[in-house]
Order: sequence, then structure tokens, then C-alpha cells
Amino acid sequence: MASLRFARLLVLLLSLSLPLATQAALHNFIDDIPSDAKYDYVIVGGGIAGSVLASRLSESEKWKVLLLEAGPSDTTNDKIPIPFENGRLFGSEVDWNYTSTPQPGAFNRTIPMIRGKVLGGSSSLNHMTWNRASNDYWDNFGRLVDDPGWSWSGVERYYDKVQRLVFPPDEHDDSKEVIPSAHGRGPVQISTTGFHTNIDQRVLNSTRDGSRYSFNPDSNAGDMVGIAWLQSSITSRGERSSASTAYLHSSVLHRKNLDVVVNARAVKLSSSQNNANRSDGSRKIRIDTVEITNTPDSPRRKITAAKEIILSSGAFNTPHLLLLSGIGSQADLANPSLNIPVLVNSPGVGKHLADHPLLPNYWLVADNNTFDDVTRYPDVEERWIKEWQKERKGIMVMPHAGNTLGFFRHPEGFRGGEDPSSGKRSGNTEMIYLNGWAEFGQPVPRTGNYLTILTSVVSVTSLGQVTLRSSNPFDPPVINPNIFSTPYDIDSMVQVMKDAEDLLNFNATDSPWKDYIISKLNPFTTDAERADYARNNSVSISHGSGTVRMGSQHDHEAPVDSSLRVKGVKGLRVVDASVFPKIPECHPQAVVYVIAEKAADLIKEDHKE
Ligand SMILES: Cc1cc2nc3c(=O)[nH]c(=O)nc-3n(C[C@H](O)[C@H](O)[C@H](O)COP(=O)(O)OP(=O)(O)OC[C@H]3O[C@@H](n4cnc5c(N)ncnc54)[C@H](O)[C@@H]3O)c2cc1C
Ligand SMILES: *[C@@H]1O[C@H](CO)[C@@H](O)[C@H](O)[C@H]1NC(C)=O
Ligand SMILES: *[C@@H]1O[C@H](CO)[C@@H](O)[C@H](O)[C@H]1NC(C)=O
Ligand SMILES: *[C@@H]1O[C@H](CO)[C@@H](O)[C@H](O)[C@H]1NC(C)=O
Ligand SMILES: *[C@@H]1O[C@H](CO)[C@@H](O)[C@H](O)[C@H]1NC(C)=O
Ligand SMILES: *[C@@H]1O[C@H](CO)[C@@H](O)[C@H](O)[C@H]1NC(C)=O
Ligand SMILES: *[C@@H]1O[C@H](CO)[C@@H](O)[C@H](O)[C@H]1NC(C)=O
Ligand SMILES: *[C@@H]1O[C@H](CO)[C@@H](O)[C@H](O)[C@H]1NC(C)=O
Repeated sequence: MASLRFARLLVLLLSLSLPLATQAALHNFIDDIPSDAKYDYVIVGGGIAGSVLASRLSESEKWKVLLLEAGPSDTTNDKIPIPFENGRLFGSEVDWNYTSTPQPGAFNRTIPMIRGKVLGGSSSLNHMTWNRASNDYWDNFGRLVDDPGWSWSGVERYYDKVQRLVFPPDEHDDSKEVIPSAHGRGPVQISTTGFHTNIDQRVLNSTRDGSRYSFNPDSNAGDMVGIAWLQSSITSRGERSSASTAYLHSSVLHRKNLDVVVNARAVKLSSSQNNANRSDGSRKIRIDTVEITNTPDSPRRKITAAKEIILSSGAFNTPHLLLLSGIGSQADLANPSLNIPVLVNSPGVGKHLADHPLLPNYWLVADNNTFDDVTRYPDVEERWIKEWQKERKGIMVMPHAGNTLGFFRHPEGFRGGEDPSSGKRSGNTEMIYLNGWAEFGQPVPRTGNYLTILTSVVSVTSLGQVTLRSSNPFDPPVINPNIFSTPYDIDSMVQVMKDAEDLLNFNATDSPWKDYIISKLNPFTTDAERADYARNNSVSISHGSGTVRMGSQHDHEAPVDSSLRVKGVKGLRVVDASVFPKIPECHPQAVVYVIAEKAADLIKEDHKE
């Protein structure tokens, strides 16, 4: 233990003493790139996957790599590094501002579909909750794509390459909160909370070993089920650790063989070759050109890739770009309202959209140290921000997603039907505990102190899709997550709402919550009332994925193979959350990092670095 602490201290000292890297590789305009520039790889999208790939592929000095990002640099926004402030970035200039179609399963409400439009992508504004998914998830992943390289034993070394455990920002002893040996030696920094609240120990005291509410000493050690300390991608200095800070700004942006261009939006993929022969089936088209422009009317810049184009634009924009480029369902693309020439008939593009519903449940509490005043009063918020700026301490180092969480299996006899999860080490549902009113659609009331338990269904079965609104790349895609479209999903949400009430059990004399909770808001007596509340108040937790699903060669609904190549063309891969064959039963960012690390190796192998 002592030596482990020492090792972590050493890592901390080294990271503090790194010289400020020059940022020669970062360009603000596509026209900064000379017209005769040549690239081996062009990566579209500087989010989680794109940042990892840009970093790994440019390790080889003989390859020239271009990373295109539609949004600005993350250094232009001073709220991005502050963990607690992430909610203030939703609906801002770094959000794509997408909205779902009216959702029949949610009383026809439309739901914000938040996505980062900034270097680092959604990792620059997400909640930073860190889950690596269960061993069962990965083993099932390998089976679904018929490639054991994707099972846990195949990806474990990539997970080690992604992240490392660091001291919490307040330097408290975290030895009872995590299992250090389950963590790795990569650039993304992971820590437990640097700001404890009055509910944390109560949550831990509510666990009952041997029951469905057991304690889990580290939910990132293979088995996710149980209540655990929440781990976040937050540095030991109390700052967001994003794909951009960990993989680009750290030490990569000075490389001469890498160009990163922000404010550069890809609007179409095409081929510089004559493709007249493709219809004979004997040769596939090589996609080698990206068309770039930031406004509908300005001329398009074309850039070609000698080796590959890699799409990492996220689960909404990657299928959008493929469809705009004629890779998708022939029947849909040929529709006269679109009339897009079909390059590849790939009916799965845009289908199979999976996401997790998120529902806030509120209780009134006797605790005047909740974060409600920080949410309510800008001057209180500003004071804490000043403290963060000065010392990197205080409530601003706390993730807005709470300090503790739990994943739960449904009880025996659950009425919603068969278990769709990857296995017993994955949950069916989730709870996240917050020491204040979490604003998800419903603003904080003017008075009172609150406890929020966010409930979610993680082994979801509803599937939706992403389709084209028009052939104009500047029209947002049509996003339909189809929330609560199966009985399993709504029954599961009702189950976890009851579990949350049951776990608090605040009227019992031995409940850790008995002197803490005053009352429940929206007290329910029937499951029908709970289901109505869930349909009326659930939002998306922003885990959209699976829209360009990976599958075996024989799986014709899967647009990419298990090496992430787009089937039916040459020179094109998809590497991002679009490729999930199944949504993980947890927060998915670590899964995207792992996929991107493995993809970098697959690409290096194919081109014999
Ligand atoms: C609000 C929010 C909260 C979340 N909270 C968590 C959490 O707590 N824990 C967790 O594990 N996961 C969380 N997630 C999910 C996680 O962040 C995503 O799953 C992950 O970032 C997906 O990675 P990606 O590489 O697929 O896409 P992104 O990280 O979204 O990156 C895609 C990038 O491509 C760029 N791009 C898109 N289109 C184009 C184009 N045409 N041309 C050029 N560039 C383009 C985008 O601007 C973006 O930078 C959250 C997501 C959101 C939005
Ligand atoms: C999102 O909407 C907000 C509010 O209308 C706006 O200020 C912001 O610029 C929009 N974001 C983008 C990327 O257009
Ligand atoms: C939702 O909209 C559909 C189509 O307009 C309609 O048929 C349905 O009754 C609506 N549902 C609710 C709950 O309003
Ligand atoms: C949690 O349990 C411990 C040990 O039983 C007890 O000392 C402590 O007071 C409890 N804390 C809370 C907040 O319930
Ligand atoms: C098409 O293929 C034939 C036979 O391989 C070849 O002779 C011809 O030049 C090709 N045409 C084009 C336009 O590439
Ligand atoms: C905090 O709450 C307690 C009991 O609810 C109350 O007695 C006390 O005055 C409050 N303190 C402040 C600073 O509001
Ligand atoms: C708890 O007790 C209060 C007061 O006795 C009562 O009104 C409430 O319904 C009880 N709540 C539960 C969940 O049993
Ligand atoms: C849904 O929420 C709205 C706004 O909070 C409320 O007015 C309405 O009564 C709710 N409907 C149901 C069915 O719960």
C-alpha cells in the first residue's frame, strides 16, 4: 500500500513538472493547411475516439495524420475544466443542441440529445463518471461480433493503456474506496470524490451484504453489481480529465506529423477515383476524400487520405455523414425527397440506436449543506468557482453526478420478462446519489434542501434510429431514441424507483436516513403512478450508441466488421460509440476509449507500421 501511494505520488509530481507543450499542431482554420498537404490518415471528429487515434497513429513519425474537429478548441471555454460546472455547458456553444423526435413512450415529449461540439467531444462536457463495463459485457461483445479479440481478455491491456488511478483532489485516503490493482497506467486520470457530502456515508451504511443492495469495493474490477464509491475522470488537481487533455494537450500537440484543425466540419465523404466499374462487384470503391466547410455557402475544401479515413464523429454524426455520402439503406437514400446516389447499400446505418433513460427522484431533507444554494444563487456559485481557481478545492472539484452509485440486478420474479443483460456481473438498473436537487428538466425549487436519486435502466431493450432530415449536411439528423418503447424498459424503471424507496426506508428506526429525510416529493402508491412519473420526467443520460454497429462478416445488418472497416468500401473505418454491438450496462466513455486504443493497433497492424 505504502509503495502504491508512493508510485501514485511520483506520477503526480512528474505530471506537474512536465513542460508546457507547444501547440504547433493545432490550427484554427482549415485554410491554415497548405493546399498541397498530404496525409496518410484523416480522422473526422476530435472527440474521445478521434483524440485517441490522432495520438496513437502519430506515434509513428513516418505517418502524417490530420484530425478534423467541427467545434472550437476546448481551451476557449473556461468552464470545461471545472468538474461541477458541466451542466452549464449543455445548450451552449459547445453543444450540438440536438433534440429528439416526440417520444410516444414519454407522453410525446421531445428530449435534449446533448453532444459535445468541441475538441475532446462529449468528454469535454460529460459527467465524468468512469465505468469500464463488466467482464460479462466484454465477453458477450466478443461473442456478438464473433471475434474473441473483443472479449475481456482481448481488451484488458487496452483498458490498462487508457487510465490510471490518481489521488483524489483533496488527497484523502481512498484506500477503502477503490481497488488500486484494478487500474492501469494510461493518460486519463481517475479518482474518487475530492469533496465528501453528508449523504455519502449514509449511502454506504444503507448497503446490506448478501442482499441485492450489497457493497462493491470497486465497480471497475470486473463485477459492476452493488453500491460503490463513484470514480470519475477527474485529475488529482481537481480538473476534468478529457480525451483532449489526456491524449492531445498533454504532449502530443507538438508533433510535426500531426495536424489538428478545429472549426473544420466534414460534410461529405467521396472518392477521388473513377468508380465507373464498381457495379461489376469485382472491386470496391476506395473512399479517400473528405469534403470540409463550416458554413452552407462557402466553398468546400477537399482533402484526401493516402491510407485511410476514420470516422469518429459520434453516434449521431457518424451515421449522418455516412448517409449523406450514400452509404446506407438503398431504399431510404433513393427516396425522391433525398435522392442521394447510393455508393453502398448498407441497411444497418443509423439503425439500432440505444440509449439509457435517466429519471430524477427527489426527497426533501434536513441538511443545509446540500448544493442547492450553489444551483440557485449565482454569487454562491461564483464564490466556489473562485475557490477552485485559487486552490483547485471545494465543491467545484466534485462531479455533478454525485459521489456514490449502485448497479442492481432485478429481484426474482421481476414481471418485466427475461434478463437482457450481458450476464450476472452487469446490472439491470442503476442509482446515482446526489446531495442536492439535480436539474434535469425540472429547475430547483426556490427554497428547501434536497436529495436526488437518479435512476436508470442500464440493460435497456428499446432501440431507435438516426435518419436524414434532408440532403443538406447543415440540417440536423432526425434522432429517435424510442425511449420506453418496450414493456421491459418501463417496468424496469418502476422497479428501480421502488428499490430506491426501499433502500432509504427512512421511517425505519435503524435507517441511516431516518433523521435526514423529511419527506418524499411525489409520493406514489401505485406502479401506474410511478410509470406515469417516469414517462413524464425521464430524459436521456446521453449514452446514444450503436448506430453503425459492429458485427461478423455474415451479419448484413452490421455496417462495420470486427476490425471496424466499413463493409463494401475500401479505406474507411468507423471508430466511436456508433460501433457498439450492444450498449454497455453502465456509463460508456471508457468503452469508447478502449475501442479506440484497440482500433489504433488494428490499423497499425494492417499498414505494417
Ligand atoms: C452530457 C453528457 C454526459 C455524459 N456523461 C457521461 C459520463 O458521466 N460517463 C460516461 O462514461 N459517459 C458519459 N457520456 C457519454 C460519453 O461522453 C460518450 O459516449 C463519448 O464521448 C462518445 O465518444 P465518441 O468518440 O463516440 O464521440 P464524441 O466524444 O461525442 O466525439 C465526437 C466528435 O466529433 C465531432 N464531429 C461531429 N461531427 C463532425 C463533423 N461532421 N466534422 C468534424 N467533426 C465532427 C464532434 O464535434 C465531437 O467533438 C456523456 C455524454 C454527454 C453528452
Ligand atoms: C446552442 O444553442 C445556444 C442557445 O441558443 C446557442 O447559444 C449556441 O451557440 C448553440 N450551439 C451551437 C453549436 O450552435
Ligand atoms: C402521441 O402522438 C401520437 C401521434 O401524434 C398520438 O397518436 C398519441 O395519442 C400521442 N400520445 C400521447 C400520450 O399524447
Ligand atoms: C455509519 O455506520 C457507522 C458504523 O455503524 C456509524 O458509526 C456511523 O455513524 C454511520 N453514519 C451514518 C451517517 O449513518
Ligand atoms: C473498368 O474495368 C475494365 C476491365 O477491368 C477496364 O478495362 C476499364 O478501363 C475500367 N474502366 C474504368 C472507368 O475504370
Ligand atoms: C441548519 O439547519 C439546522 C437544523 O435544521 C438549523 O438549526 C440551523 O440554523 C441551520 N443553519 C444554517 C446556517 O442555516
Ligand atoms: C413515513 O412516515 C410518515 C409520518 O409518519 C408518513 O406520512 C409516510 O407516509 C411514511 N413514509 C413511508 C415511505 O412509509
Ligand atoms: C407531467 O408534468 C407536467 C409538468 O411538470 C405536469 O403538469 C403534468 O401534470 C404531468 N403529467 C403527468 C401525467 O404526470
